[in-house]
Amino acid sequence: ARTGTGRAHAKAILFGEHAVVYGAPAVAVPLCQLEVEAEVRTFHGAETRIESELFAGTLQAMPERLQPVATAARASLAEAGLGSAAVQLRIRSAVPHGRGLGSSAAVAAAVARATADFAGREFDTEQLYGIVQQAERVAHGNPSGIDARAVAARGPIRFQSGSTAELPIGAPLTFVIADSGVSGSTAEAVAGVRELRAAEPARIDRAISRLSDLAEGATLDLGLGDRAALGARMREAHELLGRIGVSTTALDALVDAACAAGAAGAKLTGSGLGGCVLALVDSEEQAERIALTLRAAGAQRTWTTTVPVA
Ligand code: PMV
Repeated sequence: ARTGTGRAHAKAILFGEHAVVYGAPAVAVPLCQLEVEAEVRTFHGAETRIESELFAGTLQAMPERLQPVATAARASLAEAGLGSAAVQLRIRSAVPHGRGLGSSAAVAAAVARATADFAGREFDTEQLYGIVQQAERVAHGNPSGIDARAVAARGPIRFQSGSTAELPIGAPLTFVIADSGVSGSTAEAVAGVRELRAAEPARIDRAISRLSDLAEGATLDLGLGDRAALGARMREAHELLGRIGVSTTALDALVDAACAAGAAGAKLTGSGLGGCVLALVDSEEQAERIALTLRAAGAQRTWTTTVPVA
């Protein structure tokens, strides 16, 4: 039987979540050790079949919460010219769901790549982006596109209004990611900011504009490898994200614990209302210490990742 395989990785937004929805720039880094693998095989049945840790059955029978995956599968088959073919699709994901690490986008990108591979071809960047964005729209309405770009990028990116630029960094950066253990709904968080902005436009626009400046400034710090400056910007960004209503006491406690333990900076990452905190540290040795501190402060689990200089 024919087989196709594809992978994609998780991402963390370093600066600009939420503000990016209003056209601000944002910065994201790949989390290469958290991967999704997809495999597409010939299937001698009437209907496409999906197998993953969350679901096994036909494409038609996928539950509501997995509709983004169903959308990615249908869009990928159509784009590969296999619209009516029945295939077997296997998905294995190490990316936790609903933690702001881009799991829905990473699954969609892996499925798209595996389907293209199965068809003996490769989707270009825009085809891949188009498929992942279709799935993301089903997942949370009006996605900025940063997740769709970040899960397919090899290194750090600057993202704004749908376009991406690779972002060279001047020094390797080590982060500890701490999972609060709480699922945050991206759709709810984005809607919450929209409502707050409708009620208090001047205050929220000021915060969005400052988040935008922080992301812009961070692209320069990244180029210089200036960890102290990046850390200070992260702390301010977290404070502002709190002001636009997407932090929680659990996330604030994790940020405070990381900073008190000597992290250069820390902030929530992704849509918030749960999900993860990202802490910037000086070394892998310090990362181990800070990871322990974060677990003592309530993190359910932690990961350490180093973004290398390209
Ligand atoms: O929580 P995530 O990984 O889905 O991040 C969403 C980022 C937002 O800026 C909050 C929304 C968006 O569409 O960009």
